[in-house]
Amino acid sequence: MPPILVPNEEQSTVALADARRRVRRLSRLHTPVCDLLGIELPILQAGMSSYTTPELVAAVSNAGGLGIIGGLGRSADELREEIQKVRALTARPFGVNHVVSQVAPEEIDVTLELKVPVLSLSWGRSREYVRRARETGIKVVHQVNTPEEAGQVASDGADVIVAQGNEGGGHVGGMSTLPLVPQVVDVVNAVPVLAAGGIADGRGLAAAMMLGAQGALFGTRFLATPEARGRGHSKDVILNALGSQTVASKFFDDVLGLRWPGALVRSIRNPLLDRWAQRQQDWALAADQIRPSLEAAMEAGDFVLAGESAGLIHDIVPAGELVMRIAREAEALLA
Ligand SMILES: Cc1cc2nc3c(=O)[nH]c(=O)nc-3n(C[C@H](O)[C@H](O)[C@H](O)COP(=O)(O)O)c2cc1C
Repeated sequence: MPPILVPNEEQSTVALADARRRVRRLSRLHTPVCDLLGIELPILQAGMSSYTTPELVAAVSNAGGLGIIGGLGRSADELREEIQKVRALTARPFGVNHVVSQVAPEEIDVTLELKVPVLSLSWGRSREYVRRARETGIKVVHQVNTPEEAGQVASDGADVIVAQGNEGGGHVGGMSTLPLVPQVVDVVNAVPVLAAGGIADGRGLAAAMMLGAQGALFGTRFLATPEARGRGHSKDVILNALGSQTVASKFFDDVLGLRWPGALVRSIRNPLLDRWAQRQQDWALAADQIRPSLEAAMEAGDFVLAGESAGLIHDIVPAGELVMRIAREAEALLA
């Protein structure tokens, strides 16, 4: 009788991961964009500036989604280090996000030089970055806020387009996710589209797919994970907020002196924002006086950038588990 082969722990982990991958490939969620990006599930974690950590990015990618490093606010050297840390934690594809209107050329150079599998771009347009990335074999996932921009970045050669609605957290445009996604799908022809803004669970992912998206990108939901970098009690503020308690305005950019054309910033309402809410002219004039209070409120976690989907978030879940939970919910609904 042949001996029974008992796999060691490492072998069985690999076998289990392979089996999981095979099962996911059969799933309704395994849309063409998954093969394009080399992932199993069309669940992307937004590159949210300093809120992402290597642990967050790697956990999402290891679970079969795509984790994205936030590039905004990191120097080229910091970015290099961050990319190396992610590589030490996962062999799966991951991305780096750059905000086109804010990025320094050397930050793009590092991303391309280190051949990060996915370059995520938003807020602005650069045909050159897209061309250079694609020449290096890097896939470009471009976030847009209008159908017009979607048409432009599609003609620039973006591989995937993320249609981000105004419900989302952080910098957002004017259109809502529900009408934006199908309009983008109609404009960009065969380029795969992902939905973002207001999506935090399997219901949102399934709904996005009904609109013609091949998956979704999640920001706010991933802030409520142990791996995301919180500030003060910011994660508790997200857990306790309703969607009706967020507001999008120019307050954040005006006070911090950021030039971010076409964008509002969505955050959870707080006393500082309420005090200034109806007085845009005043806050622009008094920016220097308000800035220290805003910075202190952010550090304490009292001023929190988050989207309307905060009202759907009731627990802090490890990022890998979250990916699987969203996938299970969406799969059940699509069935
Ligand atoms: C705290 C925070 C920071 C963000 N930072 C960035 C960023 O640096 N670059 C970017 O392209 N998008 C950024 N976003 C927007 C996300 O890419 C994404 O479009 C958005 O979070 C989707 O909406 P949701 O929050 O409802 O999931 C940020 C969002 C949040 C909540």
